[in-house]
Amino acid sequence: MADFPVKRLRRLRYNPLVRDLVRETSLTKNDLIYPLFVTYGVNVKEEIRSMPGVFRFSIDNLVNECAEVAAMGIPAVILFGIPEEKDEVGSDAYSETGIIQRAIRAIKAEVKNLLVITDVCLCEYTSHGHCGVLHGEEILNDETVELLVKEAVSHAKAGADIIAPSDMMDGRVAAIRRGLDENGFRNIPVLSYAVKYASGYYGPFRDAADSTPAFGDRRSHQMDVANSDEALREAFSDVEEGADIIMVKPAGAYLDIIRRVKDATGMPMAAYQVSGEYAMIKAAGKMDWIDEERVMMESLVSIKRAGADMILTYFAKDVVKVLERDK
Ligand code: PBG
Ligand code: ZN
Repeated sequence: MADFPVKRLRRLRYNPLVRDLVRETSLTKNDLIYPLFVTYGVNVKEEIRSMPGVFRFSIDNLVNECAEVAAMGIPAVILFGIPEEKDEVGSDAYSETGIIQRAIRAIKAEVKNLLVITDVCLCEYTSHGHCGVLHGEEILNDETVELLVKEAVSHAKAGADIIAPSDMMDGRVAAIRRGLDENGFRNIPVLSYAVKYASGYYGPFRDAADSTPAFGDRRSHQMDVANSDEALREAFSDVEEGADIIMVKPAGAYLDIIRRVKDATGMPMAAYQVSGEYAMIKAAGKMDWIDEERVMMESLVSIKRAGADMILTYFAKDVVKVLERDK
């Protein structure tokens, strides 16, 4: 800063109105996607042990929750299913009477002005907790993709607005796009979990969805946390296959990846602030070791600053409350 004292960067920080004027990034409720867990049974609302404030809902309670979310002005939810029965090939995932298919129909019958996004993977539905069909201990790619297409099409038939494949099998975006088009769903967008790391931050989600793999891990399909160039290859391959929105997951520890992928592709970008990120902020907040509300807002503004256009976050409702209070 050779030109000091002529140049003084603090001039634009001295009062709140100036700070508002020059602020580069904003977080609004339009940026938020709220993840919801749906389970079998009636009148169920179970708090998830490692995710305070997040619940598993039965379909009746889920519909009420969605009505509340829509009334708050949050534009979208993403649904995760916990089926009553799991089997080797995750049949509930693509059954017309599967937990998600029934949930979508129930929401669509009651709630307007809410986008219903569905997560497409098999790990919540398989007895072994893996994201695909097994041969011994190998997760078979192409056989799994066939089932993912069935799952995606059945979600669209039930009324899903956006399809979000999270499995990380090769070629699944193209196959799902073709499946949707052939079944008359040309206008249903694909939000691809394009850059999904094999992350320790998914721990609480696996409690919530009861989807911890019975043996091994997800490193044969999810990305190595040490890689960054590979994120571009993953992102570009999904763009070429027809993805409409690209996701990076997790978010907080991967801000560099969000920025790189955004700059390289120019695509609409989502980032997933995952269960472990939520749990850590909640836990430290509970202990009074950090100011939970402040860190929540900071974490989300940072994800937008890195280049995300939208954020999947368990904090969505809390954020809207803060934004409404402070406006
Ligand atoms: C399913 C899926 C997972 C998450 C989203 N979709 C779990 C996993 O890959 O093990 C994690 C979300 C979170 O941690 O909040 N494949
Ligand atoms: Zn999975």
